[in-house]
Amino acid sequence: MKDKCNREIKHIRFSITSKCNYNCIYCDQEGFIPNTSELTVDEITKLCKILAEILNVTRIKLTGGEPLCREEIIQIIRNIANLHLYKDISLTTNGFQLYEKAEELFTAGLNRINVSLSSLKPEVYNKVYGSDSLDTVLKGLQKAKEVGFNPIKLNFVIMKGINDDELETMYEFCRKNGFILQLIELHEVSEAVGVNGDFYRTHYYDIKPIVEELESRAEKIIIRGSMQNRKVFVLPNSTIIETITPSHEFCMGCTKLRVGCDGNLFGCLYRSDLGRNIKEALRDHHSLSKYEQIVKQVVDSREPYYK
Ligand code: 5AD
Repeated sequence: MKDKCNREIKHIRFSITSKCNYNCIYCDQEGFIPNTSELTVDEITKLCKILAEILNVTRIKLTGGEPLCREEIIQIIRNIANLHLYKDISLTTNGFQLYEKAEELFTAGLNRINVSLSSLKPEVYNKVYGSDSLDTVLKGLQKAKEVGFNPIKLNFVIMKGINDDELETMYEFCRKNGFILQLIELHEVSEAVGVNGDFYRTHYYDIKPIVEELESRAEKIIIRGSMQNRKVFVLPNSTIIETITPSHEFCMGCTKLRVGCDGNLFGCLYRSDLGRNIKEALRDHHSLSKYEQIVKQVVDSREPYYK
């Protein structure tokens, strides 16, 4: 299914809970504040099936809140894997519970993980995440590698005056461990969630010069056309760095449909207000065409945030 800008929906970003054990300095809450209760495990499974059938999507990312704070996380992954409709099931996590859960997650059918890691300095980590647990996360990352997750991507949100001196250290950390670095520009939090104005203005770091430097250093540059036109740089020592800068090109390459944990379907991080909640409909046994109407309305509402 394509939107009015000819962008086809190719993957789903599904928040399964708004609960979180962290308090991140830049949290965007996935652009969304839930209005009603969380979808049940059965509702999540049913919705994943419906979306795959209507949209022919084969890729799904689970988020939160913190998805590992959802008690039934293993069951949810197992159910999605058992649909045999998704070939890429991934999850974004703060990594706090990774050490205990990595093995179970992998066995349940999870393919990939992204771990938030904006600092390798304990005091900076604490400031960014409001949690004194860098060591726990590093242990979790090693465990995830051991059980077989590949690739493992690290989300590094660069912030002026906070962690902008850690880039080379991160490149080296990723090279040593075979992790992929996602270098992410800080984005402003949407109005729905309650703007982070001052923090954004003080700490926003324009990564253009870094991108230019990577362009000159890289052995190979790939543009991920169906993933917001993100640039991927492969350095001569095999380190892989992906850059994420919100912009018009970014929006034009967006092929995502979002699901909030209470069943709100929406098309853009900044426009959860244009969403349609599918929870009530899920409780009835509608035909696929009824669900298709709802999905189509949401897809039709999609427009590039950066015009
Ligand atoms: N700016 C940039 N990235 C953010 N994330 C959350 N809030 C922001 C923000 N304001 C990203 C982080 C985290 C992921 C779940 O969302 O990379 O790892």
